[in-house]
Amino acid sequence: MSQPTIELTSDQIEFYHREGYLVIPDIATSHEIERMRGIYDDLFARRVGREEGNQFDLAGTDEDDKEAALPQILAPSRYAPELKQVQFATNALAIARQLLGSNASAMGDHAILKPPFHGAATPWHQDEAYWSPDWHYNSFSMWLPLQDATLDNGCLQFVPGSHRLEVLPHHSIGNNPKIHGLEVDEADVDRAVACPISAGTCTVHHNRTLHYAGPNNSPVPRRAYILGFGIAGVRRTTPRSFPWNDAKQTPRQERAKQAELAAPSTLE
Ligand code: NI
Repeated sequence: MSQPTIELTSDQIEFYHREGYLVIPDIATSHEIERMRGIYDDLFARRVGREEGNQFDLAGTDEDDKEAALPQILAPSRYAPELKQVQFATNALAIARQLLGSNASAMGDHAILKPPFHGAATPWHQDEAYWSPDWHYNSFSMWLPLQDATLDNGCLQFVPGSHRLEVLPHHSIGNNPKIHGLEVDEADVDRAVACPISAGTCTVHHNRTLHYAGPNNSPVPRRAYILGFGIAGVRRTTPRSFPWNDAKQTPRQERAKQAELAAPSTLE
């Protein structure tokens, strides 16, 4: 494995813990971004993972014959293992160990594409709202755009300090349980900070930081590649429930179930 080419300053580490997000320049070279863009576009063009429920529409009802408003791929590196070898991944892990400690590990990757002109907004949400309510989390997402990310094409926006909130009530976008994407019921976002960044820069945000991305009003796709990092979970002793997830009935879940049924059993 290659050596990291980046190290956070103590000011950057302090900023992350205080504000719940951070902008990190120079995490990937323009040459590498260009190479990743080729891999990325190919995965969406081939619709990899669709049958297993790993490629789906985050913001629409996800019928097979309908163009996705906000296509997403879970675990794209499973379909393009070369994504695991990029310098960006080495740098990201080194940063995770600085922010979370030496036992931080990679928690998977995903890709969210906002098509030109008609990409939907990603509503305000906390990532932890998507997960099991049974665990404590200490994790962050690292968001790497594969071109400049601007206010016009849907860069991320954060509410500073919101990582100190509990998980707020959420609902499926449009209150439609067939839609995977979640939106927070209510939140104070007046102090939100938009983070337009150039290609090669990334943002990180804590699992409870409220964040949002606008629609893509530009003529080029807005590609984001996201890596998750965290400390292995500890089970909660005080129960909580996320009823918005229990209510979900998405075509994605149905495809994942069918693929599982079709897969040969590993318990032979
Ligand atoms: Ni998110």
